[in-house]
Amino acid sequence: MAIEKIKVGLIGSGTISWTYLQNMTELFGILDVVGCSDIVPGRSAERAKEFGIKQMTNEEIYADSEIRIVVNTTYPGAHYEVNEKALLAGKHVHVEKMMTATYEDAVKLYELAKDNGLRLSCAPDTFLGAAYQTARKILDAGLIGKPVFAEGLVIRGYKADFPGTIYRPKGMWGTGSTAPADLGGYYLSALVHLLGPIARVAGFGQLHGVAYTNTKNPRYGEFIEAEENTSITASMEFVSGVLGSLTVSGDCFGETPRLEIYGTEGRIVCPDPNTYTGPLYLQRAGSNKLMEIPLSHDYNSYNKGECPDRKRSWPDPFWAESRRGLGVTDLAWAITNDRPHRCSAELGLHAIEFIHGVELSCKQNIIYQMKSRPAQSAPLPSGFLGGEAEKAFDTK
Ligand SMILES: NC(=O)c1ccc[n+]([C@@H]2O[C@H](COP(=O)([O-])OP(=O)(O)OC[C@H]3O[C@@H](n4cnc5c(N)ncnc54)[C@H](O)[C@@H]3O)[C@@H](O)[C@H]2O)c1
Repeated sequence: MAIEKIKVGLIGSGTISWTYLQNMTELFGILDVVGCSDIVPGRSAERAKEFGIKQMTNEEIYADSEIRIVVNTTYPGAHYEVNEKALLAGKHVHVEKMMTATYEDAVKLYELAKDNGLRLSCAPDTFLGAAYQTARKILDAGLIGKPVFAEGLVIRGYKADFPGTIYRPKGMWGTGSTAPADLGGYYLSALVHLLGPIARVAGFGQLHGVAYTNTKNPRYGEFIEAEENTSITASMEFVSGVLGSLTVSGDCFGETPRLEIYGTEGRIVCPDPNTYTGPLYLQRAGSNKLMEIPLSHDYNSYNKGECPDRKRSWPDPFWAESRRGLGVTDLAWAITNDRPHRCSAELGLHAIEFIHGVELSCKQNIIYQMKSRPAQSAPLPSGFLGGEAEKAFDTK
């Protein structure tokens, strides 16, 4: 039986749109990408040409009655505007992280989608990949006993690498791109996928400024001041009673992506939640050995050198091999089968509420009680591999 495809329009044809378009046009049978747009027309023209889709304006995408899903890959400062317009045009939306630049805007959008009976799906979708689905299977099978503690740590020297692009101060692009809001999203989605929602959080933070360091930039040497903490360390309690910590810093050098879950009978050492692949390790009580666990699910990254699209323009294998777009696929199958989608609006709201909660905790010296309570998303069934992989999403 032929799959009834769902038509998609992409808004924001910048850096990450390439990966989305590659996967949405080539990997998934349920998606039919009609076209893409950007406020800089040259960018959408380039993507449209490369992927054989239409170059459109935002307005044409909103007005196209056949397009059912808008994929919003604009930068965070534009997320609210584009999400709102797409929802008001009657489209379901999948938006890159964070859902919006502020928690208050995220609440408004969440309500707007709910009131209009539309679906809002929010990246990251990395937890739908092979490693984090396998990790969930290990946890659900009780292989580490009762989970007690979760630890997340990520350090990335944003300020040195991307001043003015990722390290965006409020009022320029909107917040949502400090390291805690940007990288924190991967850890929060993965943690909620593995352990369920968070009940309360408290934290400390530091706010560092940075100067433009690129001597070719006309603003070279100019000081940029962020308005939210660029380094945080937070303690949390999950609704289940599990305790956790999350530390995110954009102010130090080196990349240290770490996420570990400790239980009464063992621990799992997860890979970088900003990737779709392993290695994933398990240590069981009574053994001092960390075992690498074979991955039980598909949507691993391509093996290095095996990406089918080497001929295409993207120079960086990391992005060529990423599986971004899994969340859109899950959304399309969820619409088709009338079931909840996994990158849920509640999960997106929870992630930005967590960052908001840490900010309030720092400023007001309080423990913040989380209001949003996303359901832990259903695990993907295992055993659908290779050419059959997409079938894992075709469930009621
Ligand atoms: N770059 C990455 O490594 C990366 C990785 C994962 C996720 N993301 C997420 O993807 C999103 C986009 O990031 P990016 O790095 O691709 O940013 P980018 O700046 O390269 O691209 C964003 C594009 O959106 C366009 N745009 C802005 N406002 C618009 C509007 N109102 N209508 C149409 N187009 C508009 C811009 O012109 C730009 O081309 C962000 O939410 C980011 O968190 C980025």
